[in-house]
Amino acid sequence: MTDTLDIKITKTTKSRLAETDFSKLAFGRTFSDHMLVADYSDGEWKNFEILPYGEITVSPGISALHYGQSFFEGIKAYKHADGKVSIFRPDKNAQRFNKSAERLCMPTIPEDIFLQSLAAIVDIDRDWVPAAPGHSLYIRPFMFATDQYLGVAPSQTYKYMVLLCPVGPYFTKPLRVKIETYYTRSAAGGMGFAKSSGNYGGSMYPAKKATEEGFDQLIWTDAKEHKYVEEMGAANAMFVLDGKLITPLTQDTILDGVTRDTVITLAHDAGFLVEERNVAVAEIIEGAKNGKLTDAFGAGTAATIAPVGSISLNSEEYTLIDPKEREFSQKVLKTLDAIRYGNGPDVHGWNYFV
Ligand code: PLP
Ligand code: COI
Repeated sequence: MTDTLDIKITKTTKSRLAETDFSKLAFGRTFSDHMLVADYSDGEWKNFEILPYGEITVSPGISALHYGQSFFEGIKAYKHADGKVSIFRPDKNAQRFNKSAERLCMPTIPEDIFLQSLAAIVDIDRDWVPAAPGHSLYIRPFMFATDQYLGVAPSQTYKYMVLLCPVGPYFTKPLRVKIETYYTRSAAGGMGFAKSSGNYGGSMYPAKKATEEGFDQLIWTDAKEHKYVEEMGAANAMFVLDGKLITPLTQDTILDGVTRDTVITLAHDAGFLVEERNVAVAEIIEGAKNGKLTDAFGAGTAATIAPVGSISLNSEEYTLIDPKEREFSQKVLKTLDAIRYGNGPDVHGWNYFV
């Protein structure tokens, strides 16, 4: 535990809370009243500040804009029935934040400072945490390079920021997904395991093409042979096949998702068999054909547990069983919601109270 983080606080005099319609929250479009900013220079983090949400000024020469030295995290805070606010497993995000930082030659932030920064901003905007089922406060920490320099080299200065968005469900219906057999999200030796901004920029074109074909999401496959499932859009891919939870083993092409880890832990708790291994596209399609694929979903902070309605491979579409009939994901979501909204025991200590 480090000392208490020194944060300069300037509160807004014009809160937008009263005029915000919490019944119509599109993901990521509504920002809370405040944001957190800190600077890195001369080898240290400084100038931690919470101020009214608004525009910032940066030079057009910053290397984040030119070379993508930039990454982010995604975390959620929940309102419990008794009014308490907790952040879900932010320690995992702190660790992943620093893995992304290292991969991008950017400075790490001590876990304790990261956690204190989240707690401070969520505390100030705690009235922005929605209480409705399926709703939460999405927390977006991010870092970017701020040197004005057009040479390709790690910046010496950076900004760390945290934004907050009250959000409802990211997906509102079962997903029609396409198995991508040409484009790739990441390759061995690349940055797939990091939440590097460029990974998302590069995913937009294939995702747009899939949307034009009527799909909601892509299942990314390995860059070498397109034979193995990697991820599902911006979520980890999870399946119940032959009565076992199977999910691709995380390696450098796959993001080590907090939700994925949570689902695996809850599956173990319930005595469910779990296999983390290479998942062949062929076995998923075979299971969809012969009925042994009884569940398929994307697991992610924004996505939560997003059921797959149908899977397409090379223009053949396979419709899966009705999500409401799926024993595994229904049960996991119920247990997870009970923990996050404080209606059930948090035996793993996943709630970080603010
Ligand atoms: N995979 C990708 C590419 C993602 O962007 C995300 C979202 O954060 C996930 C997986 C799921 O990770 P988590 O559960 O930590 O949000
Ligand atoms: C998250 O689940 O936090 C994500 O990062 C997804 C996001 C790209 C919308």
